[in-house]
Amino acid sequence: MDKKGIKIVTIGGGSSYTPEFVEGLIKRYDELPVRELWLVDIENGKEKLEIVGHLAKRMVERSGLPIQIHLSLDRKEALKNADFVTTQIRVGLLDARIKDERIPLKHGMIGQETNGAGGMFKALRTIPVLLDIAKDIQRLCPKAWLINFTNPAGMVTEALLKHSEHKKVIGVCNVPINMTYSIASLLQVDPEDVHITFGGLNHMLYGLDIQVNGVSKIKDVIELMSSAENQLSMKNIAPLPWDKDFLNALQAIPSPYHRYYYKTEAMLKKEILEFNQGKTRAEVVKETEAELFELYKDKHLDIKPPQLEKRGGAYYSDTACNLISSIYTDKRDIQTLNTKNNGAISSLPDDTVVEVNCIVTRNGPIPLSVGPLPISVQGLVQQIKSFELTTVDAAVTGSYDKALLALCINPLITDDKKAKLILDEMLEAHKDYLPQFFN
Ligand code: G6P
Repeated sequence: MDKKGIKIVTIGGGSSYTPEFVEGLIKRYDELPVRELWLVDIENGKEKLEIVGHLAKRMVERSGLPIQIHLSLDRKEALKNADFVTTQIRVGLLDARIKDERIPLKHGMIGQETNGAGGMFKALRTIPVLLDIAKDIQRLCPKAWLINFTNPAGMVTEALLKHSEHKKVIGVCNVPINMTYSIASLLQVDPEDVHITFGGLNHMLYGLDIQVNGVSKIKDVIELMSSAENQLSMKNIAPLPWDKDFLNALQAIPSPYHRYYYKTEAMLKKEILEFNQGKTRAEVVKETEAELFELYKDKHLDIKPPQLEKRGGAYYSDTACNLISSIYTDKRDIQTLNTKNNGAISSLPDDTVVEVNCIVTRNGPIPLSVGPLPISVQGLVQQIKSFELTTVDAAVTGSYDKALLALCINPLITDDKKAKLILDEMLEAHKDYLPQFFN
């Protein structure tokens, strides 16, 4: 890496989340001296890129730091000599997410961005684009780390590690850091003192143990979480309370996303209500985004506005910037990442992607051993892994059969005939972004 400073390229730079990333880089400048940040987007995203890009420039100007912000619609030009590439794209924009949520709900199934049929379709649209980006990286900046936040982050990372020549790929998500912050706040301790043994997959993650200064606190956390006012959740997931007996029996901390699997009926009921009001999460986010971009246009704004915290991705920049910083400084600290299993979870195949604690080195993450998952969670995790692998296969080959099979493996799709109806309707609705199924 060039000692004169780091070059980061962010693909999907026009995202409303970018100011959080810029704030994270400014905060860490002493240990992570970024020389250039290239924000890249597509022609369709030009207006957003300019609005966000100018806000980023004002934020840097306020900081007085010598970070250069470049805005570009030319991905190949931007990638040359990059040290890190971050990807945060949404193929088909929020309108595609609205379809991912509304079509399954119309058929009485959970409609969610990264779970169930919605998650599968987001993967089908996104994986080919990410593979293309990885191809450019391999050609133009082969030493760069590709750090992917694009959802569904687990499946995208799986596809990249399996099908791309570029192997310096890490998937990140803000769920582990959010769980750590929330648990620290429940225990009234500093997040730095909380060590959670995480194990599972992206958005299918369990806290298997919690240590505070060497003492296990999992029982205390379960007790605290059993009270209605202490629900761990995120802005995008309704904080439906966990049942005390269930948590006691599970003896693990479920992630906020597990509500879709253990509380399917209640979540579905809530989503159907939102569907009827035209207020699915994507529809709400579309309004929030419009408000955010209005704020971002203000020439006097030179900080990340607090309104961004209404989004589920809060703290994603901590995850991203901590990772980049630890690779750059060879810090060897522990972070929870999506990477190749390599035996860390012995009940999952070695060559698939898992979300686990890793030591972060200059040469990338080294996953820490978890052993087998507890039998109580192993089945669900393995089932989701089968769904993910079958979806990746469908995304790469454009196979209708594989897509149908993936849907039927997913526990949120409860009927094979409906799976076919949903599949056909979603293929048609997303046709423009699924050339692999139509050519
Ligand atoms: C969570 C997830 C992210 C996801 C976000 C959606 O934080 O971990 O992967 O992107 O929620 O939030 P939104 O505000 O777009 O619904």
